[in-house]
Amino acid sequence: MARRHHEGEGGGGARRRIHLVVLLLICVTCGAVYLVCSPVLRNPFEKELSSSSSEKKKKTMVVGSLDDKESCCHGAEGTELWGEAVNWGPHLILNSSYQCCTACKANSKCNSWVFCGDRDKCAAKYGECWLKVQEDLLAPQVQETGPHVAWTSGLIYREGTGVIELETEHGVVHIQLMPDCAPQSVAYIIELLRLRHCSDCVLYRAEGRGEFWDAQGNHVSMTAFGPPYAVLQGILAAQGVPLKDIPMEARLQVKRGMVGWVEGGPDFFISLANHEEWYPRYTIFGSVLEKNMTLIEELASLSTAPSIWSGVKVGVLKKRISFNLRKPS
Ligand SMILES: *[C@@H]1O[C@H](CO)[C@@H](O)[C@H](O)[C@H]1NC(C)=O
Ligand SMILES: *[C@@H]1O[C@H](CO)[C@@H](O)[C@H](O)[C@H]1NC(C)=O
Repeated sequence: MARRHHEGEGGGGARRRIHLVVLLLICVTCGAVYLVCSPVLRNPFEKELSSSSSEKKKKTMVVGSLDDKESCCHGAEGTELWGEAVNWGPHLILNSSYQCCTACKANSKCNSWVFCGDRDKCAAKYGECWLKVQEDLLAPQVQETGPHVAWTSGLIYREGTGVIELETEHGVVHIQLMPDCAPQSVAYIIELLRLRHCSDCVLYRAEGRGEFWDAQGNHVSMTAFGPPYAVLQGILAAQGVPLKDIPMEARLQVKRGMVGWVEGGPDFFISLANHEEWYPRYTIFGSVLEKNMTLIEELASLSTAPSIWSGVKVGVLKKRISFNLRKPS
C-alpha cells in the first residue's frame, strides 16, 4: 500500500504544480481508502509460522459455494454411507445430490442420504437417492470412500443431534456441527472423535470484542474491525489422524459463535462477533450453543501477550488451553 511516487523529468513549473496537487489528492484518497479498508482486507488469521505447504494447499483448494446456513444441503463425494433405508434408491430418482439432501430433510425419519450422481460410474443406478437412518450420527456407518466410489453421501443433524463437546479445564463448550454445510470438515471431526485423546487440540489465541462489537456481536458503527478481532483461535488435530486437504466448503456469513477453518485447517477459529467483513472467506462447519457463549467470552478474556504475525496484531494466550473432543455422554 505504501507506494513510492516517482516524478518524471521535465515539464514546466505550473504543470509540475498541478501534478503535485493531483498527486497529493491521490495520496489523500489512497490513505483514506487504506484506513477504511485495511482491517477488512487484511487476513486476521496469519499463522505464526507460514509454511510453503500452506501456500500450495491454498492453490489446490476447490472453490466452495456461497451459502446461507438454512439453504446448505451438501454431501461428500466419493462416499457411500451404509445404514437402514427408509426409502430405496430405485423408488426415488432425482437430478442432483441437492434434491436428494432436500428429500431427506423433508422426511422426519431420514438422517442421512446417498445419491448416485456420476453418470458413467453409476450406469443403471444413476439418479438413485437412498434415504437412510444412522444409529449414531457422530459415528456413521461408512461402507466405502475414495475417488472410485460413485456415491455422494450426506448427514442431516436435526435439533439436538450432532453436538460435540470441547472439554477444557475452564468448562465444556458444546458445538453444533453442520454437515449439510461442510460435509468433509465434519467427516474429519468425526475421525478425531474416534480417538480417546485429541493430542494436538489447543487454543492459542484469544481476543475479545473490544469496543468494536456489542454483546450481541453486532458491529458498532463508525468503529474499526479490530484489533482485537473478537476471536478464539486454535488447532483441531491429533496424531494418527492425517489432515486430508479439506476443501473450501460452504462459506457463510460469520455470525457470533460460528466455528470455521483458518485456510484449510487444522487451525480453526470461534467467532465472538458477527464478522460481516470476513465474508466470503471462511469455511464454517459448526456453531457454539448460545448457552456456552458466556464461557467463550471468559476464555477470550484470559491473559494474553501481544504479538505481531505477518503484520497482524494478535493476542497470544500466555497459557495455551488444551482441550479434548468428545461425544456427549
Ligand atoms: C429432472 O430433470 C428432468 C429433465 O430436465 C425433468 O424432466 C425432471 O422433472 C427432473 N426431475 C426432478 C425430480 O426434478
Ligand atoms: C453449555 O451448554 C450446555 C447445553 O446447553 C449446558 O448444559 C452447559 O451447562 C453449558 N456449559 C457452560 C460451561 O456454559
